[in-house]
Amino acid sequence: MEKSIKDIAFFLLLLLSFLLSILKNSIATDIINTGEILRDGSTLISSRGTFELGFFSPGISKNRYVGLWYKKVPNSAVLWVLNRQIPIRSTSRHLKVIEPGQLVLLNDTDNVVWSSNTSRIAQIPILQLLETGNLVVKEANDDNSENFLRQSFNDLTDTYLPGANFGWNSTTGVDISLSLLTSNDDPAPGEVTFFLDPTGYPQAFVKRGAVTICRMGPWNGLGFSGAPKVGPTFRHRLFINNSTAYYREDSIDKSIISRVTLNQSGVIQRWVWVDHTRGWVVYVTLPTDNCDTYNFCGAYGTCYIGNSPACGCLRRFVPRDPQGWIKGDWSNGCIRRTLLNCQKGDVFLKYSIIKFPDSFHV
Ligand SMILES: *[C@@H]1O[C@H](CO)[C@@H](O)[C@H](O)[C@H]1NC(C)=O
Ligand SMILES: *[C@@H]1O[C@H](CO)[C@@H](O)[C@H](O)[C@H]1NC(C)=O
Ligand SMILES: *[C@@H]1O[C@H](CO)[C@@H](O)[C@H](O)[C@H]1NC(C)=O
Ligand SMILES: *[C@@H]1O[C@H](CO)[C@@H](O)[C@H](O)[C@H]1NC(C)=O
Ligand SMILES: *[C@@H]1O[C@H](CO)[C@@H](O)[C@H](O)[C@H]1NC(C)=O
Ligand SMILES: *[C@@H]1O[C@H](CO)[C@@H](O)[C@H](O)[C@H]1NC(C)=O
Repeated sequence: MEKSIKDIAFFLLLLLSFLLSILKNSIATDIINTGEILRDGSTLISSRGTFELGFFSPGISKNRYVGLWYKKVPNSAVLWVLNRQIPIRSTSRHLKVIEPGQLVLLNDTDNVVWSSNTSRIAQIPILQLLETGNLVVKEANDDNSENFLRQSFNDLTDTYLPGANFGWNSTTGVDISLSLLTSNDDPAPGEVTFFLDPTGYPQAFVKRGAVTICRMGPWNGLGFSGAPKVGPTFRHRLFINNSTAYYREDSIDKSIISRVTLNQSGVIQRWVWVDHTRGWVVYVTLPTDNCDTYNFCGAYGTCYIGNSPACGCLRRFVPRDPQGWIKGDWSNGCIRRTLLNCQKGDVFLKYSIIKFPDSFHV
């Protein structure tokens, strides 16, 4: 009798440990340990289930990439791509963490197709998908972001996520900017970029190649001059000193899903996910109108979208090219009506509630 109770107890224990092991294998994880692999088809999921990392093919392409998307949002856009320029073309793919802290993508024959460079080494490197959407390589048990070996927030694709530093670090030479995808089928960097320029006073620019499309700023201590307010749900700051200049937003309510994107037309948009309608709301679009087009009215010109034409000249200035001006070509801007003469009582005139001019040459 006593023996059979023991047997049953033993059997139950066995069953329990078996069930536990099934459970353990099916629990989503946000970590890949050294030597472990993430196969195409499996994903990493951040601790509270907001973000997911896995393999995908963009658009009609058959190439495979490692990318990040929202887990909670149906048909989420891809927010970040690991191997933007080096797709994997073979059928079986794995992402692996190898010592001393490198990420590698392997093909069918276990050849390295893509690898990350690391300047620092770790004893026990792990890959973790943080709840902020930052994919980091770090020393296991070291959560200090200063010590991360690698982080996706230092290498943004076409999407800015709250918590990332957007800007420039002279120590590392890392310039964190957004660059557009070549096309919907190819995530390689395209011509359009969005970046922070600390020259003069910090401003943010959207450029297509060398041509400036749009300018935000300069930063006036509270926000980017001329740019719409970020809204009460975000805290935004600009850090600047000799070695670094970067802009950063943090969601005050961490449950808010929000992103800033750059599209192929050079349009920047802030999106917020609304749970109860299960849809995105566009909070801000830049450029908002023609007045946001860089240099639309030329030097010493003014732009007020409520006027027709929108372009005018500063007080006591006249169009430089009156013929062109009449025909709707305002790009030559304005010149002084009379030469500047400080002895004869010329003074400063005050303008309020306007966007500051380009401070690049200040
Ligand atoms: C894997 O990559 C190696 C090196 O690039 C290449 O020689 C090999 O053919 C690839 N294997 C497959 C199955 O694509
Ligand atoms: C790693 O460094 C090599 C040589 O400097 C470079 O060619 C390669 O593109 C780098 N890889 C990545 C993923 O940055
Ligand atoms: C700039 O890089 C240095 C060296 O990696 C780092 O310690 C510092 O935190 C970075 N600054 C910012 C603002 O990311
Ligand atoms: C520059 O600012 C960054 C971020 O605020 C700070 O970590 C760093 O120590 C500063 N560097 C100098 C030289 O002041
Ligand atoms: C920044 O650099 C300039 C010139 O190198 C130096 O004069 C100044 O003291 C530095 N400021 C800080 C905060 O390090
Ligand atoms: C970029 O976004 C703007 C505003 O939504 C839209 O009008 C434009 O067509 C978009 N461009 C592309 C290439 O999708």
